[in-house]
Amino acid sequence: MIVAARSADADALAAIHVTGFERGWDVAEFERLLADRAVLGHLARPGGRGVPNGFALSRIVLDEAELLTVAVLPSARGAGLARAILTLHFGRLAGRGARTVFLEVAEDNAPALKLYHRFGFAEIGRRAGYYKRPGRTPATAIVMRRPLG
Ligand SMILES: CC(C)(COP(=O)(O)OP(=O)(O)OC[C@H]1O[C@@H](n2cnc3c(N)ncnc32)[C@H](O)[C@@H]1OP(=O)(O)O)[C@@H](O)C(=O)NCCC(=O)NCCS
Repeated sequence: MIVAARSADADALAAIHVTGFERGWDVAEFERLLADRAVLGHLARPGGRGVPNGFALSRIVLDEAELLTVAVLPSARGAGLARAILTLHFGRLAGRGARTVFLEVAEDNAPALKLYHRFGFAEIGRRAGYYKRPGRTPATAIVMRRPLG
């Protein structure tokens, strides 16, 4: 079951996020984002209750949305969950007046790139050295865009 994320879900979103990124966002960061009226989040709750296992979060400015993050718990990956969350999430963004969605993704993040290509995102630019990584060469960000609705 995929539902809107609320401030009370900050803990759960931080717990999922840290499994997917080298620099996980903390609970306070998610509380701040979820309290922002321009930010829209959706999470998946298996069976409609229990611990969420995936979510997506976007910020809307006028008619443009930015996908801030999407993540699924490792144990739930590869089963179409991100696709289901983003399908509903993009529909809600369009319902809030967004006509285009943008995102940034590391050029070596193959699962995410495949997911976004499946949704019809197209590359519109690159930012060299965008993702700093301790002890490693910074990764290039690919900027992507997709029309909504
Ligand atoms: C990217 C992520 C959200 C995908 O979640 P998921 O629930 O496993 O994705 P889905 O099962 O819905 O897969 C959707 C498509 O993505 C692709 N995909 C998913 N996992 C993949 C993998 N490990 N390798 C290659 N492609 C993959 C597939 O093309 C899949 O569609 P298809 O199999 O029908 O062709 C998940 O891997 C994750 O949380 N990663 C860490 C966080 C992250 O990188 N987020 C994106 C940052 S920009």
